[in-house]
Amino acid sequence: MQNIKEQLEQALKSATTAEQVEQIRIDFLGRKGSITLLAKNADFSKMSVDEKKNFGRNLNELKQFATQEITKAAEACKAATVHRKSNDLDLTAPGKGRRLGALHPITLVQMELEDIFQGMGFSVVYGPEIESEYFCFEALNIPHDHPARDMQDTFWLKNQLILRTHTSANQVRTLKRFGAPIRAIFPGRCFRYEAIDPSHENTFYQCEGVVVDKDISVANLVAIMRVTLSQVFKRDVKVRLRPGYFPFVEPGFELDLNCLLCGGKGCPTCKNSGWIELIPCGLIHPEVLRHGGIDPKEYSGFAFGVGLTRLAMMKFGITDIRYMNCGDLRVNEQFSTLM
Ligand code: PHE
Repeated sequence: MQNIKEQLEQALKSATTAEQVEQIRIDFLGRKGSITLLAKNADFSKMSVDEKKNFGRNLNELKQFATQEITKAAEACKAATVHRKSNDLDLTAPGKGRRLGALHPITLVQMELEDIFQGMGFSVVYGPEIESEYFCFEALNIPHDHPARDMQDTFWLKNQLILRTHTSANQVRTLKRFGAPIRAIFPGRCFRYEAIDPSHENTFYQCEGVVVDKDISVANLVAIMRVTLSQVFKRDVKVRLRPGYFPFVEPGFELDLNCLLCGGKGCPTCKNSGWIELIPCGLIHPEVLRHGGIDPKEYSGFAFGVGLTRLAMMKFGITDIRYMNCGDLRVNEQFSTLM
């Protein structure tokens, strides 16, 4: 019995497939298997009662041991086969449906604007969100006591640093850094001290743009705006200018978009006016060019500030600005496939 046990252990050790284990089962426990034959061939007539008892007990133990070990080995082979299969590359297997992330609606529109402007020879420049009072206000012709500061109250940090209230803060930085001529846009996050409601947020995105070159006029500004908006909304759009006041542009405008929903007839979206106020803009004030180290007698330019958050809301029909920063991934997931 001890011999048979050792033979069995040896055989199981070298078995690697389910078929080999099955053969071992037949060799040891089958009808003519060595363990089965042990019982059949035993000569009980020559054994004492105690010997018979011992023999029976040992034989049972051996049978149990063999059954148990063979079953274990068979299961191990099965598991190994499944594992091997799952590691194989099966190109015909159905996909596992891996969940990819989704881009935020603002990111989608920002990327689209970057593409459109790059196609027109603009560079994309990112400025700091923590800004000095100088670049955010002073260099833009907004001195300390200017009432325009009231409209852009913001979060003050130490050392006269603030969270920028508009991407215009990047105008003079960029002019100083690259000089003229230049075409650039600066998309980014801005902050203001606002009471939050469906159309106001303390954190929002803008996309500023500047062009400085010789003989730049309002006609260039209108043309660039019209082309850009036509590409964003994927149809020809009409725009108009109204006078607007910003200390850093002269003349300053509000550029309105002919309402895309009613075509200008008047509807609730455009408050029955036929127009939607969209992009503040103007020719860059000579004082601002000077802060940027550019001679206003030689160069002129225009600047515009697209409300990126607002544009994304218009484009996707999002009516409450609070969705934009809520951090709920379902917001991203439903717009990411629409571009
Ligand atoms: N920075 C201004 C704002 O946030 C918008 C603006 C940009 C106006 C560029 C004119 C030119 O309100």
